[in-house]
Amino acid sequence: MNDKQKTVVITGASNGIGRALAGKLLSEGFKVIAVVRSGAIEGLSHANLTIVQGDISSIISISHAIEKIAAMGVEVDYLINNAGVGPDLMEDVPTAEHMQTSFAINTTGTVLFTEGLLKYVKNGGHILFLSTAMALLRNAAPSGPAYRMSKAAINMYAVMLAQRLAEKDIVVTPLHPGWVQTRMGGQNAPVTITQSVDGIYKALTENKTSGKFWNIEVDGLQDF
Ligand SMILES: NC(=O)c1ccc[n+]([C@@H]2O[C@H](COP(=O)([O-])OP(=O)(O)OC[C@H]3O[C@@H](n4cnc5c(N)ncnc54)[C@H](OP(=O)(O)O)[C@@H]3O)[C@@H](O)[C@H]2O)c1
Repeated sequence: MNDKQKTVVITGASNGIGRALAGKLLSEGFKVIAVVRSGAIEGLSHANLTIVQGDISSIISISHAIEKIAAMGVEVDYLINNAGVGPDLMEDVPTAEHMQTSFAINTTGTVLFTEGLLKYVKNGGHILFLSTAMALLRNAAPSGPAYRMSKAAINMYAVMLAQRLAEKDIVVTPLHPGWVQTRMGGQNAPVTITQSVDGIYKALTENKTSGKFWNIEVDGLQDF
């Protein structure tokens, strides 16, 4: 193995942005550890791809996934927290079910997975959160209440984590991937998966400013 090869862990890589990003990273020579709830990624295989079964809504499944990654003896250069759901994007009224699902995956599971993996992230590494511009206070609107609130919480966590990890030189970036043509974004979205993935790749490899919000639609950092 090339010892200069970077290792990236990505959650929710079975579909949409996560799957395409895993493919892009493999084509760029990264070692990719993909955490996927089904345990498989249809149509994607590569010598540098390891798939780890993991459901980000389950605390037990998260710890099993972390144990499996730890057993590989790898040091992680990049962690991409991509797994996410938006069950109420077309709704204005929060329900118990939508709140529980959104927070379990977009917030609690994402935070616990990150905390579990932290000790394997290299000094000088980069942790990225697939957030959304919908979660910025100045973009508040009635739609997607559970989704917006769960992602707003992750923006806050990202800034707090950036401060905690500053002395390890680990960059933390909450990011808006654009409104993207995926299962979540729908086919009328203006941004293709390829455009989104290229923007995320740029943020991942070029952004050195920790705790700030990156928006691929402005091709750089913007205020929260
Ligand atoms: N598309 C957009 O316009 C847009 C805009 C802003 C932010 N984002 C964010 O970008 C990220 C990716 O979204 P996408 O558009 O690619 O959506 P997507 O096509 O629906 O893909 C979501 C991915 O997350 C995985 N996932 C969901 N729940 C999971 C769980 N409990 N455990 C593990 N994996 C889980 C899904 O796995 P399964 O295949 O097993 O369901 C799937 O691979 C999300 O965090 C989303 O909030 C998207």
